[in-house]
Order: sequence, then structure tokens, then C-alpha cells
Amino acid sequence: MSSKCFLLLQYVSLISVILFQLEPTVANSNNIISCLDEEKEALLAFKQGLIDESGILSSWGREDEKRNCCKWRGVRCSNKTGHVLGLDLRALSDSPVDALKGTINPSLLKLQHLTYLDLSWNNFSGSPIPEFIGSLSKLSELALSSAQLAGPIPHQLGNLSRLQVLDLRFNNLFSSGNLDWLSYLSSLRYLDLGDCKLSKFSNWFQVLSNLRSLTTLYLGHCDLPPISTPSLLHLNYSKSLEVIDLSNNYLTNSIYPWLLNVSSNLVDHIDLGSNRLHGSIPVAFGHMASLRYLGLLSNRLREVPKFLGNMSSLKMLVLSYNELRGELSEFIQNVSSGSTKNSSLEWLYLASNEITGTIPNLGGFP
Ligand SMILES: *[C@@H]1O[C@H](CO)[C@@H](O)[C@H](O)[C@H]1NC(C)=O
Ligand SMILES: *[C@@H]1O[C@H](CO)[C@@H](O)[C@H](O)[C@H]1NC(C)=O
Ligand SMILES: *[C@@H]1O[C@H](CO)[C@@H](O)[C@H](O)[C@H]1NC(C)=O
Ligand SMILES: *[C@@H]1O[C@H](CO)[C@@H](O)[C@H](O)[C@H]1NC(C)=O
Ligand SMILES: *[C@@H]1O[C@H](CO)[C@@H](O)[C@H](O)[C@H]1NC(C)=O
Ligand SMILES: *[C@@H]1O[C@H](CO)[C@@H](O)[C@H](O)[C@H]1NC(C)=O
Ligand SMILES: *[C@@H]1O[C@H](CO)[C@@H](O)[C@H](O)[C@H]1NC(C)=O
Ligand SMILES: *[C@@H]1O[C@H](CO)[C@@H](O)[C@H](O)[C@H]1NC(C)=O
Repeated sequence: MSSKCFLLLQYVSLISVILFQLEPTVANSNNIISCLDEEKEALLAFKQGLIDESGILSSWGREDEKRNCCKWRGVRCSNKTGHVLGLDLRALSDSPVDALKGTINPSLLKLQHLTYLDLSWNNFSGSPIPEFIGSLSKLSELALSSAQLAGPIPHQLGNLSRLQVLDLRFNNLFSSGNLDWLSYLSSLRYLDLGDCKLSKFSNWFQVLSNLRSLTTLYLGHCDLPPISTPSLLHLNYSKSLEVIDLSNNYLTNSIYPWLLNVSSNLVDHIDLGSNRLHGSIPVAFGHMASLRYLGLLSNRLREVPKFLGNMSSLKMLVLSYNELRGELSEFIQNVSSGSTKNSSLEWLYLASNEITGTIPNLGGFP
């Protein structure tokens, strides 16, 4: 239940990221700048590859009144040059009537100035991500989430050196080998490979060390293997990470040194649920002064030390489905570092452990 709510939260935040990105250019649609013929032809060829049962692209056409392709649904042009800068064809819902089907036509390559491409929530019926997308060299945002894509993630994406946002979540994608190409995406701020099967991505933490601008990392449900080598500690990591979701993988306690190194005072959200953590939570978490959410659901944790320390922002701590044993009052004491007077904690989940005792007076919690 709680993990579903949580996914929902992630969508909401992604959508708001994208809306925010759209805002400055939406105003362009009022402009009379007209599109370029060659780009219009490219868009029409792209439309031809699609199956549009619901007429989503009915504003796209050759008719005279549709002449200006900058006014077509989802198309955004530069208000100076008329070049197509963005294609936002994200389906409005996950209902099949809102989905475009068919194939992604390489005519998109003619859109030399394309910086933004979002085809999420459509239905490409198990086809692979086309390799040619790696040649859309100006792309800064690529969103293909939940689009029924399948197969290996093409390494050609490594040529998108300006990419800041890459979202491939909820497809049937996998890595056929290592993902070394990711390390070329040095401008990446937002990376979501949730649900991609990455069991062969054994050096993932090394690759991530090259992404120095990363603020948001979703690698949940990826079959990620545990960190195996201590040499990683000599790498430099992004100091700007705010959201780290590594839930539902095969991670063990060897994640902690990495996590503590990447967790600067910006980190807001860490989810390590459904991994293979065991024993005690490291007290070093206590230094994460801005952490608001710590998810440790469904591991094999046995002990909650007095670790809250300086975690003056922590609002939600999820410890359900672990192997915690003992007196409830002692957990509460430890979680609040012995003083409930100044805790910011609002939600503490302890279900499905072996905790005994009655609920103590929680007067100190907000
Ligand atoms: C063109 O777009 C830029 C930014 O996208 C905006 O600042 C400017 O006001 C726009 N110009 C016109 C004439 O709409
Ligand atoms: C996607 O399209 C295929 C083929 O038309 C269809 O069989 C499948 O059910 C669709 N998937 C979804 C999630 O709508
Ligand atoms: C980038 O493209 C070139 C050819 O265009 C190719 O040889 C190279 O492997 C690509 N880089 C990556 C990281 O895929
Ligand atoms: C880490 O960063 C420091 C300072 O920016 C630099 O001197 C060092 O070479 C970097 N180390 C690695 C492994 O990139
Ligand atoms: C971070 O990495 C350094 C080595 O670069 C290591 O000595 C240190 O213990 C790590 N930090 C934490 C908090 O684990
Ligand atoms: C509370 O913290 C102390 C000191 O860190 C530890 O020894 C003890 O086992 C903790 N209690 C529980 C119930 O985890
Ligand atoms: C809290 O932060 C202060 C100042 O940064 C530091 O001296 C202290 O050791 C920290 N306490 C804990 C329990 O982390
Ligand atoms: C209580 O928390 C506030 C801010 O959250 C902080 O300014 C204050 O120093 C804290 N007081 C104690 C006794 O830790």
C-alpha cells in the first residue's frame, strides 16, 4: 500500500518537473512565427509512422488552415527562427484511447534543433528504443516512460551529451552489458531508469560518479547488484543529489559508504526499501540534516540505534517488515535520540516487526 502511494508521489513530482520545463516556451504558441517546410514534412512523416485511432494528432495535416506546424498539438517552435524545439506527445492518461501506437519514425532526425522529446505513456507495442535517437544531438530532455518499449537500452544514447533529463521508467528495457555510455551524459540532472533490468550494471556506482550534476536518481526495481569493491570510495560523486531511490534491488550493507559519501546536506529523500540490508542502521545517517524521508521497508534490520542526531528535517521513517525486536518505548526513544521534545518526525512505520509494549506518550512529536 505505502509503496503504491509512493510511486504516485514520484509521478507527481516528475510531471511537475516537466510542466515547469514547459512553461517558458508555451507562450510561443501565441506567436505568428511559421514553421519551416522541411521540418513540417518531417513531422508529417513521423505522424505517418504512428497509429492515431483517437485523432490525437488531428491538428497535424497538409490542409491550408493547418499550414503552420508550430500550432500543431505538442509542437513547440523557436519564436525567433521557427525551428521545432520540442515535441510533447505524452499521453494525457494511461487509457488506451489517449495512446498513440505504431513506430517512431527516423524522420525526427530532420528536426535538427529538437531539445525536448516526450513520448511517454503511448504504446509502441514492445518495439525497442530506436538507436537513431542517439543522433538527436541537441536533446536536453528525453522522456519515454511507460511507452511499452522493450529490449536493450541502446548505447547510442551516450552521444546525447547535452541531456539533462532521461526518463525511461516503466518499460521492458534491460542493459545488455555495462552502461558505461551513461558516463558521457555529464549534464544529467534527472535520471530515471526505474524498472529497467540492470543486473549486469555491476559498476553502476562508478558510472554515476561521472554525473556530477545529478540531483534525482531513480533506480528502483532494477535488479541492481550490490557494491562489491571498496575502491569506489576514492571516486568523486555529485554533491547535489536530493532524491535517491534504490528500492527493490539486491543491495547489501556495502551500499552505506557510497550513500554516506553522496549524501551531502541537500539530500531530501532516500529509499532503500526491499533490499538486503541487515543488522543495525548506521548512526552516520544522523548527519543528514536535510533528509525528510528515509525508506527502509522490507529489509533485515534488527536494530535502530540512537541515530537521529542532527536529522532535524526527518518527517517520515519507514521501518516496516524488518526483523526489529524489542520494546516499543525503546525504539521510540532511540528514534528520537532520547528526547521527543524537538523531533520533526511525523510518520514512523514499524509494522510487521517483533515489537512489544504499548504506545508511549508521544507528546513531543508534532
Ligand atoms: C520568445 O521566447 C523567449 C524565451 O523563450 C521570450 O523571452 C520572448 O519574450 C519571446 N519573444 C516573443 C516575441 O514572444
Ligand atoms: C498496446 O498495443 C498492443 C497492440 O495494439 C496491445 O495488444 C496492448 O494491449 C496495448 N497495451 C496497452 C498497455 O494498452
Ligand atoms: C556516438 O556515435 C558514434 C558514431 O556516430 C559511435 O561510434 C559512438 O559509439 C557513439 N557513442 C556512444 C557512447 O554510443
Ligand atoms: C576528485 O576531485 C578532486 C578535486 O576536484 C580532483 O583533484 C580529483 O582528481 C578527483 N578524483 C577523481 C578520481 O576523479
Ligand atoms: C567517503 O569516502 C572516503 C574515501 O574517499 C572514506 O574514507 C569515507 O569513509 C567515506 N565516508 C563515509 C561517511 O563513509
Ligand atoms: C537503542 O540504541 C542503543 C544504542 O545505540 C542500542 O544498543 C539498542 O539496541 C537500541 N535499541 C533497539 C531496540 O534497537
Ligand atoms: C550534530 O552537528 C554538530 C555540528 O555540525 C556536530 O558537532 C555533532 O557531532 C552532530 N551530532 C550528531 C549526533 O551527529
Ligand atoms: C530544535 O529545532 C530547532 C529547529 O528545528 C533548532 O533551531 C533548535 O536549536 C532545536 N533545539 C534543540 C534543543 O535541539
